[in-house]
Amino acid sequence: MKNFLNKSTSIFLVALATLTTTWAQTHGKQGMVVSDNTMASQVGVDILKKGGNAIDAAVATAFALAVTHPQAGNIGGGGFIVFMDATSKTTTIDFREKAPLRATPNMFLDQEGQLVEGSNHNGLQSVGVPGTVAGLYMAHSKYGSLPWKKLVQPAIALAKKGVVLSYTLASHAKNMQSGSSPDFMKNYFTDSEGKLLGHGDQWVQKELANTLKKIKKHGKDGFYKGKVAQEIADYMKKNGGLIGLDDLEKYTAIEREPVKGTYHGYDIYSMPPPSSGGVALIEMMNVMERANLDSVPFNSTEYVHLVAETMRRAFADRAEHLGDPDFNSDLPLDKLTSKDFAKMRYDHIDFDKASVSDSTTFGQLYDGSNTTHLSVIDKDHNAVSLTYTLEHSYGSEMGSPKLGFIFNNEMGDFNPQPGYTNSSGLIGSDPNLIRPEKRMLSSMTPTIVAKDGKPYLVIGSPGGRTIINTVFQTVLNVLGYEMPIEKAIETMKIHHQWLPDQLVYEKYLLSPDTKQSLEKMGHKTREVRNLGRLMGIIYDTELNIYIGASDSSSPDGASIGY
Ligand code: GLY
Repeated sequence: MKNFLNKSTSIFLVALATLTTTWAQTHGKQGMVVSDNTMASQVGVDILKKGGNAIDAAVATAFALAVTHPQAGNIGGGGFIVFMDATSKTTTIDFREKAPLRATPNMFLDQEGQLVEGSNHNGLQSVGVPGTVAGLYMAHSKYGSLPWKKLVQPAIALAKKGVVLSYTLASHAKNMQSGSSPDFMKNYFTDSEGKLLGHGDQWVQKELANTLKKIKKHGKDGFYKGKVAQEIADYMKKNGGLIGLDDLEKYTAIEREPVKGTYHGYDIYSMPPPSSGGVALIEMMNVMERANLDSVPFNSTEYVHLVAETMRRAFADRAEHLGDPDFNSDLPLDKLTSKDFAKMRYDHIDFDKASVSDSTTFGQLYDGSNTTHLSVIDKDHNAVSLTYTLEHSYGSEMGSPKLGFIFNNEMGDFNPQPGYTNSSGLIGSDPNLIRPEKRMLSSMTPTIVAKDGKPYLVIGSPGGRTIINTVFQTVLNVLGYEMPIEKAIETMKIHHQWLPDQLVYEKYLLSPDTKQSLEKMGHKTREVRNLGRLMGIIYDTELNIYIGASDSSSPDGASIGY
């Protein structure tokens, strides 16, 4: 990577000690935490300063986000960790939610076998068995160094003493008072008298603090057994949910081998199924490796066309092949991530005109965009890339008032109507149909790139299916276009997911001339306000410094180094 800071500037910046920022570069000599919330990033850095490693800091940050960033930070959802140690030994932890034992492939269909619109994302039947507490507990048991209690305690303190309500959360609070929000959300951002809180008010979460205390004391069992589990099961039974004590008791996180790819000498490690993110990322990086980027200037028509066509193909492959590996013994992962397969995909791109996505085979909807990502690196070069989610913003918007946390609505990530795929576009392929205890296919793409055997780039994003593409473009921007991390994160992103056949771009960031040229080539363009909310860290090997950046689209986010 090109140097974009001279040495004396960097040393001066480091000398300023802890630096917090919402999106420009932050520098750290010993460690760095980047997350969607400043208080949570600070919790992670404090753990590093107390001698904790990257896993300890990631676990503490994730618990803190469950308090300070409740739209996606959670203990009622699930996610993935990619962990690389200083020698580039890499592993992943899958704590994706599971379908309850009583779930069936047709549970969201009416008597005519049609999907009941919205049913897979609404109400308690949309809740998957949460995995977050099991995943964080497994990560800590296997790779952490500080006592578990010390990692949960900062979140308890934030919930008990209260946090100052940000402008963003205050606006969510206000919106939830109107419309169709369930009662749980109407009473969520309130004081002890039930009065709605506003921007700048202190928000105390007593019930959440009590739930976290049980997790602190009993570890994973504090959530999946005992009083918390009983209340989850009782609440579900009373309100038409499917999750019972047996579901909670049976839930386990799973350690899996990462998917691995290369790009011009860099090693890329990412999340395998049940996430589709890593496989699609590596397929797309392999396709892009075939192109000579000197003749594909960044943001030119050629660039947008090539990137969009690459995405179109990877998303078609995703739709056809991917699902929970524990229910699909023959996922063609080696093929999809091979250089030969990428060559075939690249060779079929027409450089003068857009392909047409064939709606008679596969397609898929956009989905929930409120996930959250955190990146951590410690003084020994151990790195963690963690993405976790409730699916939609505030998930199902439901939860037991006695427990104080929100349940996901992740069942919406399964293919809801077996065998039915259309262009607008439901998807009905078998690998991702609902089965009891199956994990729903995800797009989360926590990723770590290694250079010369050491973690080099730690990156991830929320954004539903756009996650795969925003992470892909950020990795390409750094490795291929040699951009500094904050530029790689901020610069224009596009999204194509095969079906609907649309080239989505960020408002203000694509020139009108380029847009026109792309439309002449046959692309159907669509403008959106923003794509991605990336949280990244780079290790600058020459300066021996960590550089962090949190996307400016994250209003409360921060990279904090020390
Ligand atoms: N719920 C978003 C994802 O898992 O892709």
